[in-house]
Amino acid sequence: MATPVLEDTKERQVPAVEIIDLKKSFGNNHVLKGFNLTIQPHENVAVLGKSGSGKSVLIKCIVGLIRPDAGEIRVFGQDVVNLDRQELDEVRSRIGFLFQSNALYDSLTVRENLEFPMRRLRLKKTKAQVDQMVHEALSSVGLPNVQDLMPSSLSGGMKKRIGLARTLIMEPRIILYDEPTTGLDPITSKEIANLMNDVHQKYNTSSIVISHDMSCIKRTAHRIVVLNEGIDYLQGNYEELEKSKDEIVRSFFL
Ligand SMILES: Nc1ncnc2c1ncn2[C@@H]1O[C@H](COP(=O)(O)OP(=O)(O)O)[C@@H](O)[C@H]1O
Ligand SMILES: [Mg+2]
Repeated sequence: MATPVLEDTKERQVPAVEIIDLKKSFGNNHVLKGFNLTIQPHENVAVLGKSGSGKSVLIKCIVGLIRPDAGEIRVFGQDVVNLDRQELDEVRSRIGFLFQSNALYDSLTVRENLEFPMRRLRLKKTKAQVDQMVHEALSSVGLPNVQDLMPSSLSGGMKKRIGLARTLIMEPRIILYDEPTTGLDPITSKEIANLMNDVHQKYNTSSIVISHDMSCIKRTAHRIVVLNEGIDYLQGNYEELEKSKDEIVRSFFL
């Protein structure tokens, strides 16, 4: 039975995400002007860029919320730019997207929020299976006992954890974090960064972390790509960027 082993090896050699020469403009606002990024399986990469540089546009392109003007995006080797609705849903079920705003529904309980992606994709699960999945996801983010609470009664850090639990319930292969620590106090930020690392280990995911919080990036990213003027301006690990004399890179450490 040599074939499955070979197949498996091949699978692991395909990048988790490959972005080639990505371009996106809104009218005269040329946001992405030829951005490139490759992420290997199990790699966490931070995209560092100032406010308004196109970080959120970039990850919205990956999940098909924004359609790029040109360029290629591959997720585990599959082109995701030209998919029909059903194919896009299938790809999205493998990508967890943690929105900057958390995007929790205030009128739904925590449990109902977690069930939402399963309902949207019409996954057929028994109540016992759903109970188990909700419990597992909430336990993974350290909040096993909050399923009947409303989001409005939770702190900012807890909402972030619930947002993460909602992506974990789908067992994503890739997680996209949009400014996961923005608006949180330093201690809570540190807890969220540690949680991101726990999730990385437990679920064996790859991730893109969009941020300008250098302490979060230092904790979570294996590699940093600077998005500047619409392109992948430069990249390196935290120590390399910290030593850099480049003015744009320096500005993130001030
Ligand atoms: N749906 C949209 N329509 C028009 N302009 C947009 C849209 N989304 C983002 N932009 C513009 O694209 C630029 C980059 O935005 P964004 O990716 O949100 O920045 P950030 O790096 O802060 O996440 C901004 O100038 C923003 O106004
Ligand atoms: Mg943004």
